[in-house]
Amino acid sequence: MLARVLSCAVIGLDGELVEVEVDISRAQNPTTTVVGLPDTAVQESRERVRAAIRNSGLTYPFNSRITISLAPADLRKEGPAYDLPIAAGMLLASGQVVADVEDAVFLGELALTGDVRPVRGVLPMVALARDRGMKRAFVPAANAGEAALVRGIEVFPVEGLASLAAHLLGSVPLPAAVPSESRTTDLPDTITDFADVVGQEHAKRAIEVAAAGGHNLIMRGPPGSGKTLLARAIPSILPPMTAAESMEVTRIYSVAGLLPSGAGLITRRPFRSPHHTVSNAGLVGGGSMPRPGEITLAHRGVLFLDELPEFDPRVLEVMRQPMEDRIVTISRAKLSVTFPANFALIGSMNPCQCGFYGDPDTDCTCPPQLVSRYQRRISGPLMDRIDLFVDVRRVPYEKLSTATRGEPSAAVAARVAAAREVQYARFATADGRAERTNADMAPAQVREFAQTQMTPAAETVMRLAVDRLNLSARGFHRVLKVARTVADLAGSDAIDAPHLAEAIQYRERTE
Ligand SMILES: Nc1ncnc2c1ncn2[C@@H]1O[C@H](COP(=O)(O)OP(=O)(O)O)[C@@H](O)[C@H]1O
Ligand SMILES: [Mg+2]
Repeated sequence: MLARVLSCAVIGLDGELVEVEVDISRAQNPTTTVVGLPDTAVQESRERVRAAIRNSGLTYPFNSRITISLAPADLRKEGPAYDLPIAAGMLLASGQVVADVEDAVFLGELALTGDVRPVRGVLPMVALARDRGMKRAFVPAANAGEAALVRGIEVFPVEGLASLAAHLLGSVPLPAAVPSESRTTDLPDTITDFADVVGQEHAKRAIEVAAAGGHNLIMRGPPGSGKTLLARAIPSILPPMTAAESMEVTRIYSVAGLLPSGAGLITRRPFRSPHHTVSNAGLVGGGSMPRPGEITLAHRGVLFLDELPEFDPRVLEVMRQPMEDRIVTISRAKLSVTFPANFALIGSMNPCQCGFYGDPDTDCTCPPQLVSRYQRRISGPLMDRIDLFVDVRRVPYEKLSTATRGEPSAAVAARVAAAREVQYARFATADGRAERTNADMAPAQVREFAQTQMTPAAETVMRLAVDRLNLSARGFHRVLKVARTVADLAGSDAIDAPHLAEAIQYRERTE
């Protein structure tokens, strides 16, 4: 007998329907064959499904020739998510279950016990099923939270194969998941409050500007000056995400398999801090069926690269194009996928090898030519994409020990959130979707929203800066974007001289 069951694949961040056909016929020599570009995990599905069916009190069709076909045939099928549709197909084809499943998709890995395990990409797969008119989705119970974010399709959390069989037979119906957006989740992170960082007002202010406008920033200072500590406080001031941004980020984490079990919507902006040993693929994404890398996991949030010069320059190099385009394209022989990668880069570095170049208390022991060579380790084109540079000096011990608490993160976060709202309103399009920041402005927008908004006093400051600092066209645009954010933080439509002066301060000082 032949059974047809629908399932899904994920390509990039999008789902695609996969048709699973199971044909069972009596045979002297029993065989089980999987056809349709299956990878090893799909091949091994045969063994898991056999054990799961037997251990669920159901009957496996022995003495049969079983053919499992996955279509479309030219799409590479990977991972264990086809276990559940294959098992369902076997129960139907063997006549143990009689049910109409034309309007349903099945997703899930099977343990040998018959328990259903979570799989990656459930959110985009269920969304696709809904778009294709499916009415029901049978998903692993651990993935039900993300699946229930999709409207217009009934989601059934499945704990085990036996309960799925009982549901299809109509004997014990499964309860449908409650559609919910209120079941939110936060990414795990340890957050430092700005109030716990003593002094460093200049660095905190630069971080506030970067967070508000989505700008790239580099902190430069000797070891122990608190660069890592400051970075840990960044998540506490990032602006809230819009509903659309939350959905987009949740989809990415679903595909990466990084949503905690039972999780719904991610509401906190991502903050990623990969180690400096991160590989090329780990940073920008990769694999035969490409998966998102750190730059995509940081989409709509912050990518923090601590000790920037420790990173392999070749790895940093692959980040350059995505930083410009805010997307990353990964090409493979048969397919090419594009992931979003719109993040603010925040980096930290020592000013030189020994770390004390420019320090007022400790002498730098590096030969002068090594100092500039150290700074050149970060390639010019990457430095070219940094909007703010800030020097972090060590806070003297006496000051650290007196410990007067600084401004709490909540107060900074409120300013950042307000400035971000101003930007979203400014860049809103007709359909109301405009998660664009000042850092994202195209040249024409810089002209419209920054250059022509300067007061006469600001124009005077700008003219002086262009002359004295030898500002390139690129540098000119960068200063204007940062000045726009400084003015937004001050609640000012016009860019006035102090706003511009602050932005100019954040330019790189090349020694
Ligand atoms: N401004 C500060 N306020 C509070 N603690 C600080 C400050 N600066 C440094 N520290 C302390 O010194 C430690 C080292 O700081 P860290 O952020 O690791 O420095 P860096 O990354 O610049 O080498 C921190 O864990 C913290 O305990
Ligand atoms: Mg550090």
